[in-house]
This record gives sequence, C-alpha cells and structure tokens, in this order.
Amino acid sequence: MRQHVNPLSIHFNQIEGLTSLSEMFGDSKLNLHLDIGCAAGDFLFDLALVNTSWNYLGIEIREKLFKNAKLKVLEREIKNLNFVFGNANNILNDAQSKFITKNVKSISLNFPDPWFKKRHHKRRVIQPEFVNVLSNSLKKGTLIFIKTDVKDLFDYMNCTISNDFNFKVIEKKDFNYSESFNPNKFKTNREKYAIVNQLDIFERIYIKI
Ligand SMILES: C[S@@+](CC[C@H](N)C(=O)[O-])C[C@H]1O[C@@H](n2cnc3c(N)ncnc32)[C@H](O)[C@@H]1O
Repeated sequence: MRQHVNPLSIHFNQIEGLTSLSEMFGDSKLNLHLDIGCAAGDFLFDLALVNTSWNYLGIEIREKLFKNAKLKVLEREIKNLNFVFGNANNILNDAQSKFITKNVKSISLNFPDPWFKKRHHKRRVIQPEFVNVLSNSLKKGTLIFIKTDVKDLFDYMNCTISNDFNFKVIEKKDFNYSESFNPNKFKTNREKYAIVNQLDIFERIYIKI
C-alpha cells in the first residue's frame, strides 16, 4: 500500500457527500471527537469500544485504509464510530461539514505526515489557512491535541496554531484526561512505535478561547 498520497492532488478536491451526525452515529447527542489522519483507525476502535459515551469520527486520505475501517465498523455494528474519506483540509473547509466543526468537543492530530522537504511543507495538514478555518468555526472550549516524534514538525505546528490568538495552550500537567476523549490514554500505532524505538514525543494541547 502507498505510504503517502499528495493531499494537494486534484483527486481530493471533490469531497464525498457527508451525512448528518444522526446518520453517522447511534446517538448523535454524545460528545464528538475528531481524529485527523486516523490511518486504519485502530486507535479509534480502541477508544470507541471502551468510551461508549463519546462518538469518534476519523478522517483519512488513504482510500483503502478508510474503506477497511468503514467495513469493520459495519461488520462489528459499532454505533459510536465512523470514518470519512478525503483530505481533512478540504473537508473541514467545506460548508457542508460545518455541523462537524460546530459540534466537535476535541480534535487530535497524531503523528501527522512530516513532509520533510521544504518544498513539500505545503502538504502538511496543519496550514495557516486550516488553523484559520478551525479558529472561525470551532466553538469556544474545543480542544486540539497535537503529537509528533518530529521536532521540526512540532515547532512548525505549534508556531502555526499559536499564531492564532483564538487558541491558548493548556499545560499537560494541568489537564484532566479522565474527562477527555481518551481517559485511558490509549496510544496510536505510531506512538507505540515511537515508544518502542525510544523516540522523543512532542505534544501540546490547545483550547479555543
Ligand atoms: C504518519 S500517519 C499517522 C497515523 C496515526 N495517526 C498514528 O498516529 O499512528 C499519518 C496519517 O495521516 C493521513 N493523512 C495525511 N494527510 C492527510 C490529510 N490531509 N487528510 C487526512 N488524512 C491525512 C495519512 O494518510 C496517514 O494515514
């Protein structure tokens, strides 16, 4: 399977028709968490099976991973988990996804693709325009969690988000995980890899003010 796809390809300009929260989930009133770049969704399966008072939505740009994850949800009849295919930037910038940004309680970006070459930085999921979209559409109090094992990417994401005065950093030591989307502190596949290989992990939590 291809490890990377170019999110700027015109292939992703057309976004798939999004259904409403009540069509996506068994109980649309539950707290909603969005994971951007969820790959095969393993992390979200772990979360959804244990935290039944939350709905989890994953966005993934690799179609095969998305299709497999979606199929697994249907087969297992999991009602608090769903997936959307495409480029998260285009999806969340589209008027038809306002119901997601208006309802989401928290968003995670776990180990986004680093796109190391400078000329490829514009393919990174965190972009000033994207932060602006989030800044203008998220409700006050919405949390954004970023995590990566690439220091340069962390600095870039942190600088891009912190440049927006609507987002304030929450110190990890002051954060109460027990009421968050991930009270058990489940780890993503890349995080498990980083831990096994003793890579540094850089993370930050922001709140929309
Ligand atoms: C390095 S993987 C990390 C996967 C997982 N979050 C983890 O921590 O194990 C990054 C994932 O983000 C997806 N991705 C990259 N750019 C994206 C975009 N613009 N929209 C949605 N998904 C994206 C990639 O296809 C890949 O599955």
